Amino acid sequence: MTNKYMYFIANWKMFGSLNSLKSLDKFIKFFKNFKKNTYSKIIYCPPTTLINPMTKKFKKTQIQIGAQNCHENQNYGAFTGSINAKMLKSVGATYVIIGHSENRKEGETDKLINNKIKSALKSGLKVIFCIGETLKEKKTKKTKKLLSKQITLGLNKIKNNKNIIIAYEPIWSIGSGLIPKKKELFETINFIKKKAKNYKVLYGGSVNPKNINLLNLINNIDGYMIGGASQDPKKFIDIIKKTYN
Ligand code: PGA
Repeated sequence: MTNKYMYFIANWKMFGSLNSLKSLDKFIKFFKNFKKNTYSKIIYCPPTTLINPMTKKFKKTQIQIGAQNCHENQNYGAFTGSINAKMLKSVGATYVIIGHSENRKEGETDKLINNKIKSALKSGLKVIFCIGETLKEKKTKKTKKLLSKQITLGLNKIKNNKNIIIAYEPIWSIGSGLIPKKKELFETINFIKKKAKNYKVLYGGSVNPKNINLLNLINNIDGYMIGGASQDPKKFIDIIKKTYN
């Protein structure tokens, strides 16, 4: 039970077609009648192909749209296959996820992530900045060192912390059904908040209706980034309801 202002970010990853938008009716109906909606911010991050149609779908609601990545270049340019923050904004995005581990795995460096964040902020988008350790880093007790590095380099020369939310997503927890232990997660979130002062810090990684009550016992988390479970409106609704029950 909480009456805190909480973020719920639906990260659809590379899933969804125009047909999937029908499933949002259920969510829209729920959210309209949801009495606690003043305490919560919902951000749907669909694949780029669905940003604009989703914006239209959510037109009369408070629900916002985020993109899942952007190019570092603020201007137009000869970058085949890429999309920059300005273009995402022009089709209705207000947020963008940057530094997700699935993109870091493809070769995104901390420096590139830093450039992307700067570019997104300059273009007027808010940023969901992802950090998190691998299982090996966790087992060898390198989590804090790694998070420290990701924060220092990722946020290098950035002052605009009102427009950035940090999402702590341990890589071993994404899509695995595993979540960190309560005490451990509390301490890691605290560590991030000390390192990145005045930032909201969310948790992401296998959040679902079964473990949400447990996660809600950790009172320093400012919200959740939800992958798999966010594609099923029933599960997504359940997670939100249980947070405010
Ligand atoms: P998951 O994904 O909820 O499916 O673990 C979270 C994420 O990658 O943002």
